[in-house]
Amino acid sequence: MNNGLVGKTALITGAGSGIGRATALLFAERGARVVVLDVNRESSEDVVDEIRQKGGTGLAVTADVGNEAAMKQAVADTISSFGTLDVLVNNAAVQIMGPLHEFTEAQFDQIISVNMKGVFFGCKYTLPVMMKQKAGVVLSVSSVLGLVGDPDLGIYGATKGAVIALTKSLAVAYGPYGIRVNCVCPGDVNTPLVKQFFDFQPDPEEAKAQVYRHYPLRRIAEPKEVATTLGFLASEDASFISGSHLFVDGGLSAEVY
Ligand SMILES: NC(=O)c1ccc[n+]([C@@H]2O[C@H](COP(=O)([O-])OP(=O)(O)OC[C@H]3O[C@@H](n4cnc5c(N)ncnc54)[C@H](O)[C@@H]3O)[C@@H](O)[C@H]2O)c1
Repeated sequence: MNNGLVGKTALITGAGSGIGRATALLFAERGARVVVLDVNRESSEDVVDEIRQKGGTGLAVTADVGNEAAMKQAVADTISSFGTLDVLVNNAAVQIMGPLHEFTEAQFDQIISVNMKGVFFGCKYTLPVMMKQKAGVVLSVSSVLGLVGDPDLGIYGATKGAVIALTKSLAVAYGPYGIRVNCVCPGDVNTPLVKQFFDFQPDPEEAKAQVYRHYPLRRIAEPKEVATTLGFLASEDASFISGSHLFVDGGLSAEVY
């Protein structure tokens, strides 16, 4: 296994919490210099403190992924601090639940801004750096809901489906530059985002038990299990994997009944 990321620079969006946080800590542990980007300044600084306490190298960047100027600046700050940008992880997303006919235009715009424009801006400013380097890895965190339906998460699922489609097109367009592009499709992961989902249900504990029963492995994922998958895809061990969407869902999407 060559799962080391020694000497690599990784920019991870939404890295102040959940999957992004676990990924930032894992990448730093494996030797990467990690840019911890989040809209929440305090949480990204906490993650960088934790990275440094463990002997790693990190930089906290406060930015809204849906803001083009902020994302352009974040990439520029990464280069001026570390000289390269080898791995981008588009992880930041928001989830707004509810039936589509009750969705407001403002909610629609918010979810599109973070989950889709954020991925667009991350890629737009990172790819030219990687093209010059003739190497790089772009990873995005999609979801099983990019491929299957949930009654209360139609717009969220649509953004995740878009991320899968974009992954395939970018892999085709930028492969000739030595850039690999992949995404992961987690099922439920034990993060604040999922807690929000359970809290939204009339009986959160029963909802949790019901969800666990759907999984062949009879549990949901821990954030670190998605982080290790991203770590694999970022590493040389995945040197011929590009244009893939990889399920990290304990077999959930494999089952019909
Ligand atoms: N948790 C799950 O069950 C699950 C399942 C499938 C996919 N995902 C995906 O995994 C990714 C991470 O989810 P999570 O559960 O760790 O979420 P989370 O809510 O724990 O963390 C998301 C982070 O993104 C940050 N963020 C939100 N809006 C932002 C913005 N505009 N700019 C920059 N940062 C912003 C938040 O501050 C937060 O730190 C998301 O793409 C989500 O859609 C999660």
